[in-house]
Amino acid sequence: MNLIRFFRGVKLLGQTTFVSEQTICELAIDCGVKIPTNCTSGTCGTCMITLLKGEIPVDEFLPPGLDLEYVEEGGRLGCIGIPNGDVDIEILPPL
Ligand code: FES
Repeated sequence: MNLIRFFRGVKLLGQTTFVSEQTICELAIDCGVKIPTNCTSGTCGTCMITLLKGEIPVDEFLPPGLDLEYVEEGGRLGCIGIPNGDVDIEILPPL
C-alpha cells in the first residue's frame, strides 16, 4: 500500500492510500483535494503539480502540456501522472 500526500506550502491538504494505478488527479479527488483540470489528456498543462518527494515517471516523449524545464523542477501533470510508490505533492506548478 502506498501513501500520497497533497500539500499547499507547508499545509497538508489531504492524503490517501492506493494499491492500483490511479492518476494524481483521481487520488486528489479521493481525499477531497482540488486540482484544476481542463483537457485531462496531458495537453493543456492546467493540472500541473510539483513532485516534492517520490517518483512519478514521465514518458521519454513528453506530452504537449509539459516541457523539460518543468520536469527538472518537479513539474508533473496530474491528469496523466501515475505515482510509483509513496509521493508528496505540492498542488501548485513549480515555476
Ligand atoms: S488537464 Fe490538461 S494537461 Fe492535465
